[in-house]
Amino acid sequence: MALDRKNVPNDLSAFWMPFTANRQFKKAPRLLVSADRMTYKTADGREILDGTAGLWCCNAGHNRPKIVEAIRAQAGELDYAPAFQMGHPKAFEMASALRDMAPEGMEHVFFTNSGSESVETALKIALAYHRARGEGQRTRLIGREKGYHGVNFGGISVGGIVTNRKFFGTLLAGVDHLPHTHLPEQNAFTRGQPEHGAYLADDLERIVQLHGPDTIAAVIVEPMSGSAGVILPPKGYLEKLREICTRHGILLIFDEVITGFGRLGASFAVEHFGVMPDMMTTAKGLTNGVIPMGAVLTTSAIHDAFMQGPEHMIELFHGYTYSGNPIACAAGLATLETYREEGLFERAADLAPYWEAALHSLRDVKNVIDIRNMGLIGAVELAPLPGEPTKRAFQAFLDCFEKGILIRTTGDTIAMSPPLIIEKTDIDRLIGTLRDVLEKLD
Ligand SMILES: Cc1ncc(COP(=O)(O)O)c(C=O)c1O
Repeated sequence: MALDRKNVPNDLSAFWMPFTANRQFKKAPRLLVSADRMTYKTADGREILDGTAGLWCCNAGHNRPKIVEAIRAQAGELDYAPAFQMGHPKAFEMASALRDMAPEGMEHVFFTNSGSESVETALKIALAYHRARGEGQRTRLIGREKGYHGVNFGGISVGGIVTNRKFFGTLLAGVDHLPHTHLPEQNAFTRGQPEHGAYLADDLERIVQLHGPDTIAAVIVEPMSGSAGVILPPKGYLEKLREICTRHGILLIFDEVITGFGRLGASFAVEHFGVMPDMMTTAKGLTNGVIPMGAVLTTSAIHDAFMQGPEHMIELFHGYTYSGNPIACAAGLATLETYREEGLFERAADLAPYWEAALHSLRDVKNVIDIRNMGLIGAVELAPLPGEPTKRAFQAFLDCFEKGILIRTTGDTIAMSPPLIIEKTDIDRLIGTLRDVLEKLD
C-alpha cells in the first residue's frame, strides 16, 4: 500500500519517548496512524492486530462510536470547568456511574488523570484519613516487590520494580515491601490462580510486628500484578492480607488500574477474587484509554472521616486541574455504557477458557518456561538469552509487529491483554503468530 505521507513526520528528535529505547525506535519507527475495533494501521498501511488493548486500556476496542460521539458533543458544549469549588453535571454522573459499577461498599469517587495519580491520591487519602481520626502516627506505607504503581514518587516508593526505582534517589521514607508471589518452581504453567504461596502474605504480620501495628497506614498491592509480567495471587493470599490489615487497623488498597473494567471477566478483581479492600485505584479502561482519566474509589468510612469540622473548610487539600474534566467524564460515561450494553465483562468471562487453552498450547514451544493466565490476560515467560536478559522477548515483540500482531514485553515475559471484543479467530491468529515467531527465535 502507498505511503500516507501526511502521517510520516520527518523529524523524530524532539519527542523524548516514555519507557522507550529512543535511539533504537527512531532508527526504525513503529508508527500507528489509525485504529478500528481490534486493528491498528501503521504509517506504511499495514494492519496490526491489537493483542494488548493499547497499553492494557482499550478494553472495548478502538474507534467505538458511542465514545467518539460523546467526546465530540462534550467538546462543543462544555469544554472545561474549574475543578475546585465549582462543579459540572457530568462529573457527578460519572462518579455515580462508576460507583454503580463498582463492588458494593465503594461509595465515593475521587477523580485523577492517570493510574499514577490515582496511586498518589490513594496513598495521600490513607495518610490523611488516619490523621483525621487522631492516628496521625500511622505514616508507614507497605508495597510489594515487583509491584507497579505508576511512576510518581509515592508509586515508585511502594512499587517494587528495581529499574523504576534505582535512578531516582531515596524515594519516600517509611516504606516497606512484602515479598512478591512469583514462584515458578512450584507454580509454573498453572492455569489461573496458583496453589502455592498464600504463606507469603504472612510476611505482612512480620513487618507489622517489626514497626509496630499503630505506625502503618496502608498496604497497597495489585490484586494481580500486570506490569511485572502477569503474576497471579496464590489461592488464599489476598484473603490473608485482608485479614491481617483488618486486625491491625491498616487500610488495604487494591491497585486495579489494569485489573478493572472486565480484564479478569468481572467488573473488578475485587469481584473476581471476592476480597474487599478499603480503596481501589483505577484508570486506563475507565475511559477505554481514549482520554486520560483515573479515579480512586473509597468506602464511606474513609470518606466520612473527612466530613467534619467547619463546613466552609476544604476537607482534603488535594486535587488536579483536570480532576473530573468534562470531556473525560463524557468519554467515561460512554465507555461504561458501552461495556454494559455489549456485556463485555461477561464476554471476557465466556472467552476466558478458550483464551487459556490457546495460551497454554504454547507450553512446548522453544524457550517457553512458564505460562500464566486469568480472564483475558496472559503471559508467556521465556528463558533469557545467556547474559542478555530481555533481549529474546524484545526480539519476539519486534518480529510479531512485523507479522502483524501487537504484544508487550516486560523483562523476558510476553504479556497479552486483548480488547474484550476479541473473536476466537483473532485469538487463534494472535497465538499462532506468536508460536511461529518463537519457533524461529534463537
Ligand atoms: C497497576 C498499575 N498502577 C498504576 C499504573 C500507572 O498508570 P499510568 O501509566 O496511567 O500513570 C499502571 C500502569 O500500567 C498500573 O498497571
